[in-house]
Amino acid sequence: MTAFAPANIALIKYWGKRNNELNLPVTSSLSLSLDKGTHTTVKFATEDAVWLNGNRLGPDDAFTKRLLTFCDRFRDKNCPLHIETVNEIPTAAGFASSSSGFAALVLALNELFGWNHDRKTLSILARLGSGSASRSLYSGFVEWHAGVRDDGLDSYSEPLNIEWPELQIGLVMISDKQKPIDSRMAMRRTVETSTLYKAWPEQVAKDLALMKEALNSKNFTLLGQTAETNALAMHATMAASVPSILYWQPETVATMHKIWQLRNKEGLNIYFTMDAGPNIKLLYEKKDSAAVAELFNLA
Ligand code: PMV
Repeated sequence: MTAFAPANIALIKYWGKRNNELNLPVTSSLSLSLDKGTHTTVKFATEDAVWLNGNRLGPDDAFTKRLLTFCDRFRDKNCPLHIETVNEIPTAAGFASSSSGFAALVLALNELFGWNHDRKTLSILARLGSGSASRSLYSGFVEWHAGVRDDGLDSYSEPLNIEWPELQIGLVMISDKQKPIDSRMAMRRTVETSTLYKAWPEQVAKDLALMKEALNSKNFTLLGQTAETNALAMHATMAASVPSILYWQPETVATMHKIWQLRNKEGLNIYFTMDAGPNIKLLYEKKDSAAVAELFNLA
């Protein structure tokens, strides 16, 4: 059984859990799915085997363990699986491949085991693998509702009924190296040690309302400004953690300055967002695609 799920980039970020086991978030979040994502094939087999981008991984590999532990939630003891994952975007470099990865895996398992679950249930199951994966069950703009229940049954994603084909996301690759600290650990440290984290829920509530206003009125400047502010506020909560978490590389900062220079001095209406890695995601309108492609080395 083979399934595809798109990667998604959050415009309003998910950062911090109220339940680490169930990946229940402190706040809601909102994303846009990309065209690219993950293709995953799952088959019954005689022994567990995990393949990533054409290479068989060892049983002790962190990726193998994470995937198989996830599958253990759903299978009997004697049910070895062959899992093949192919990412169209760099793996684990803050390019959102875990979002599409767990969503594609859940879709493939749904077929293999004949569950026939609806999207809402699949979104809840994908969330158990990786929070952001709950948003990768859909294309377009998606909102993940934080929910309030302890069992997480009201913490799932839904598509927003908004079409905005002019809006573009460009991936600026700063580094494709594995990140030094994964988002799970980084979130935990932020929630536990960052004095700025208490401001985060309020920031998200404000930004989520502004983002919805931007989407409903197709106000690109409001969208870009809100996404950029939200991402920088998230990174500020991390920087205030003990020990501090800073995913930025010198080139990340140089790229931010370049974006601000182009926007404020040269009138190019571009903004950025960033996730748990050094890479930058540009936000711009289709009419500026040629200019952006000339100015940046897009992945
Ligand atoms: O789903 P995770 O555990 O990979 O966390 C994703 C966190 C961010 O990418 C930084 C933000 C988001 O909402 O996608």
